[in-house]
Amino acid sequence: MSEDTVAQGGIFSLALAGGDTPQTLYHLLAQPPFVEQLPWSQMHFFWGDERCVPPDDPESNYEQARRTILKKELVPEENIHRIRGEWGSIKAAQDYAVQLRTFAAEDLAWPRFDLVLLGMGADGHTASLFPGQISADELVSPTLAVTANYQGRPAPRVTLTPLVFNSAHHLMFLVTGKSKAEALAAVLGSTNNPKRWPVQRIHPSKGSVVWMVDEDAASQLPGNINYLFEHEL
Ligand code: 6PG
Repeated sequence: MSEDTVAQGGIFSLALAGGDTPQTLYHLLAQPPFVEQLPWSQMHFFWGDERCVPPDDPESNYEQARRTILKKELVPEENIHRIRGEWGSIKAAQDYAVQLRTFAAEDLAWPRFDLVLLGMGADGHTASLFPGQISADELVSPTLAVTANYQGRPAPRVTLTPLVFNSAHHLMFLVTGKSKAEALAAVLGSTNNPKRWPVQRIHPSKGSVVWMVDEDAASQLPGNINYLFEHEL
């Protein structure tokens, strides 16, 4: 995917997810054989959300990626477009919107990402879109300052909004573990309740959505949802 995009347009824009689940993938991509296959110098890295902590804080999504996928010798500094969490959520959200504008697609104020990676919390949140009332800003702005308590992680955050996710070319959700089984069954089930299950706010107009889940996370999926595990392929 990245090679085709680079061949066609020059850069491959990727929005990373925070949280623990994608860390194994990030680590793998920076190791042989993948490390030799990816067009690192043409890849531009963004984030779907960030916690408002300094960039070297172990809770920073940027820092977690820097320790795994963003090896200094691979990715030029100018290809890294982080959310400046240390500035506080409001200022960082405004600054990130300005950064996104630099890479905006013709008809938008933000890039049409080639690939967005997303996780999901046990409560059905994704990026930093949490259950509850949908704010009016979420419907008009590419970035949002939010406050949300989840598993003792930093509460002040900045997130991209569904406007941005829904204009991406490809989205991939990475979900593992029993604690996510109920939420996964609900978000992929027949009831649409985007206030309760923020993942349901993500439905790209043209882009593709792929769910990569493990058997524990899939353990409560209703029978009418077809899926294949790797060992069945
Ligand atoms: C964050 C996130 C968040 C995360 C989920 C899942 O910064 O916390 O981007 O949306 O993806 O909470 O996290 P885990 O993979 O750790 O379960």
